[in-house]
Amino acid sequence: MSDRLVIGSDEHKNLFCRTLIDTHIPYDPGDIVWPAIDARDRTRIAALPFWPDAMRDEINAMRKLEALAARQHDPLLAEALALQGREEGRHGRIIGAMLRAYGIAVEPMAPAIAPRDAEWAYIKLGYGECFDSFFAFGMFHLAGNAGFFPPALVEVFEPIVQEEARHILFFQNWISYVRANRPAGHRAVHRLTSARALALSVWSRMRIGLALKRANRGHAPAEANFPVERFSLRGFLEACLAENARRLSPYDARLLRPRLIPALATAAVGLLPASGPGGTGEIGARPA
Ligand SMILES: [Fe+2]
Ligand SMILES: [Fe+2]
Repeated sequence: MSDRLVIGSDEHKNLFCRTLIDTHIPYDPGDIVWPAIDARDRTRIAALPFWPDAMRDEINAMRKLEALAARQHDPLLAEALALQGREEGRHGRIIGAMLRAYGIAVEPMAPAIAPRDAEWAYIKLGYGECFDSFFAFGMFHLAGNAGFFPPALVEVFEPIVQEEARHILFFQNWISYVRANRPAGHRAVHRLTSARALALSVWSRMRIGLALKRANRGHAPAEANFPVERFSLRGFLEACLAENARRLSPYDARLLRPRLIPALATAAVGLLPASGPGGTGEIGARPA
């Protein structure tokens, strides 16, 4: 294997597909032993508003990947896409298993429908995951350190968070591989499609964030609120950047990494005031 990887080459495809396949950890959500939690932690978990959406999104993601995998002529790409689909489905089942284990009721989900345009559906999904995972990595780290979730539960979710790091690594390489193999005249269109998917992902997250903020204002129990006042925005972004780099570091350095969101976060860190006395954004250092 050479030191220089040509994006779009068979070597590139083998590397990003094999990286996903070879780092897959087989486990069954039914075998997870859910740690005992106290009533306060249970209330906190039950009060988080996103469980039904999270379960539905994971099952929809599985359908999208199944549909795209079924369209592949290349058996390795088909295998890797199908594997990610199974991991997404497993995420949905893990959330369901956790809610059942702690006696938290959720609305039954409408059955997921296969997408009409599987490639477009995966492009939107992939950019959405790049955006969500970057912030989720930092949030998961800070929530663990702050004791927002019991450590035993953080341990259960650790491999799931790392699976998302594998997914965004795979997606970034897949999209570059696909683009490099399109006829030259189609690449600009593909770039525009990617930019549209990215913009849609960011926009939908902003809308969800604003809606959650409005819904939570004055309604959510205090336990459900992540203690953001303990972290400055700069401290939060620094944690996201550090965790993003750490989680993507185990994989071959020649593979592409998502760049846009980390670059924007780095630029924002440079513009924000330095963190408070703790130096990590803690101790009530949130800027006004
Ligand atoms: Fe997932
Ligand atoms: Fe994922």
